[in-house]
Amino acid sequence: MKDAAPPSPSSVRWLLGRPAADAVQERVAARVAAWTGPRVPGLAVVLVGEDPPSLAYVRSKRKACRQVGIESVQINLPETASTGAVRSAVAELNRDPAVHGILVQLPLPPQVDAAQIIAAIDPAKDVDGLHPDSLGRLMSGRPGLVPCTPRGVMTLLDHYRIPVAGRRAVVLGRSALVGLPLALLLLHRDASVTVLHSKSPRPWEQTRDADIVVAAVGRPGLVEPEWIRPGATVVDVGITRSPAGLLGDVAPAVAEVAGELTPVPGGVGPMTVATLLANTVEAAGGTLDVGA
Ligand code: GUN
Repeated sequence: MKDAAPPSPSSVRWLLGRPAADAVQERVAARVAAWTGPRVPGLAVVLVGEDPPSLAYVRSKRKACRQVGIESVQINLPETASTGAVRSAVAELNRDPAVHGILVQLPLPPQVDAAQIIAAIDPAKDVDGLHPDSLGRLMSGRPGLVPCTPRGVMTLLDHYRIPVAGRRAVVLGRSALVGLPLALLLLHRDASVTVLHSKSPRPWEQTRDADIVVAAVGRPGLVEPEWIRPGATVVDVGITRSPAGLLGDVAPAVAEVAGELTPVPGGVGPMTVATLLANTVEAAGGTLDVGA
């Protein structure tokens, strides 16, 4: 009898963000080109201080706006700005009919009360989906603006036809920006969802049973190959800057076990920006079929 063939080397399928983000951006661009309202969709980005990563994010968001025909303006406030000063800037943008979407880049300096600022944004212009009204809508399954990164993750899964309904999903991280809204989106799509965090004992015992693992913690290399069931889908939302470049929450060796994996960089990042464009068009009253 012949020996059994050795196991074939694993061939992870990389879930690249660029093709999925381009598909969203093409739809957004077509919708903006066909715009018949008095003003094309407009986005205002509020930047407090000069945090280098925030400057880079804002640049890439405004560049993407230009590519699809969305008007964008940037409001710069000094690092020392008070909560009142940021609130006033937001109030002015709430009144501006040329502004359909408002994004206050996070993190804000410590003297600024971020919760107060987010609550001051007109919910109709809340393209970040972080206003309590938007999060309440998401929780109760009513239509509303959905946070960009979680919605982008769902669009990415759909683009690569990863089934969600009836599957076990583990979300690592419970932030209002990513983990919590993503858990709700997965739940609304009939996944069985577990949310784990820094106080969860032996997280690997739960990730090992999951069909879909999403890491959104910000701890480089946290998810090791032993945490992953062979063939599972792994989405890496973590981005940590290091001298070696951008690092995800998922250790590189997970590529030898996972069935599908998002790279860092080039995975979820482009989806966040593309979803911001989609949210801006929707806030301006345009309908889009971008899924999720
Ligand atoms: N900082 C990092 N990610 C985000 C985001 O999605 N929205 C905002 N406003 N700030 C961020």
